[in-house]
Amino acid sequence: MTTTIDDVAVPAGVAGRFSRDEARRLVELRRDLHMHPELSWQEKATVEKLVAALASFGITDVARVAGTGLIARIAGEDRSAPVVALRGDIDALPITESTGLSFASTNAGVMHACGHDIHASWAVGAAMLLAAAPAHGDVLVVFQPAEEVGDGARAIVASGALANVRAIFGGHVDRRFEVGQIVAQAGELAASTDTFDIEIFGSGSHGARPHESADPIVAAAAIVTALQTLVSRRLDPAQPGVVTVGTISAGTASNIIPDRAKMSGTIRATTVAARTLLTRELAVLVSAVAAAYGVTATTTLSGGTPPIVNPERMAAIASRAAASVLGEAALVPLGTTNMGGEDFAVYMESIPGCFMRIGAREPGGRVIAAHSPGYYAAEGALFIGAAVLAECARVASETLAAQALASA
Ligand code: NI
Repeated sequence: MTTTIDDVAVPAGVAGRFSRDEARRLVELRRDLHMHPELSWQEKATVEKLVAALASFGITDVARVAGTGLIARIAGEDRSAPVVALRGDIDALPITESTGLSFASTNAGVMHACGHDIHASWAVGAAMLLAAAPAHGDVLVVFQPAEEVGDGARAIVASGALANVRAIFGGHVDRRFEVGQIVAQAGELAASTDTFDIEIFGSGSHGARPHESADPIVAAAAIVTALQTLVSRRLDPAQPGVVTVGTISAGTASNIIPDRAKMSGTIRATTVAARTLLTRELAVLVSAVAAAYGVTATTTLSGGTPPIVNPERMAAIASRAAASVLGEAALVPLGTTNMGGEDFAVYMESIPGCFMRIGAREPGGRVIAAHSPGYYAAEGALFIGAAVLAECARVASETLAAQALASA
């Protein structure tokens, strides 16, 4: 890309951390990635650009993992100290962009509509900052593919590359918050995302003789209605939960009762207990309602990502890091319950960590929904994310080393 970058604005709070040339190169990278987005598991050109950008900052200890994944190792002061990881996701979405940005997508039907162009770039920025001012121990900077389809993190974990990692940090741009605001709180931050497929088996007949059938459509309607009671009557009302039926299909003609019907949907919960209850009760309810209507039904649950629940200890590290970069006033509460999913949760099944929301609305800007054709993240978030994540790695590295010393 040859666009001249002459409008690079580094937020005042972190301006001292980036030279003019570094800032320009990071923005160039971001705009290049935004202009050439790639879907989950197809991030080949993206990875090549990331490798080149890292190399341009002198970072060459880079391993390719999990297909289109990448892990850069930044040496710490003590190579035997506990290892910390940072994660940036890199994939785009099948959406046609309508932002009108000068660097809008040139890949038809593909768009960085979730800000992962910024995430990939701030991960490079964090690597650059850590290479210049190392953490106590080594830091692995993970460039993760396929977050949008929910299986990139699992592939990175399965590669074994993070086996020795003792803490992991990541974040997501969020236009509900202004550039410079950070959510780094303990507790629930994202919901679990499980998918269900229900198939109902009845017996068909002429539409004029329903008594000769076991009608799967009527049973399906009863099941959809009954599923609404999972959240309203099974789940503690103080607990958030969602059961949404997103597809339903049956039949071929207006005067034929078919012999089967299908539906699918999603289950969201913010705690492991609520997730377990909703998934378990769903299957029980489907079978019971099916039996009452003289049909049989199968329920297939596809385990998605778990909820993100930031542990106190890790949220404290992230908060301390964010406050040391931006001041205490930068820390803001999420202020709502996020029922969206985020596969960073998969790392947190085996590695303690903290996931943050990083403000990405320019002053005076408006909230734009992620995954919409008009979405973009304010560029200043790139520098905030890079600086805060690098600081998370430094604080975590020191904290873990001190703990190891104390318990030795
Ligand atoms: Ni995203």
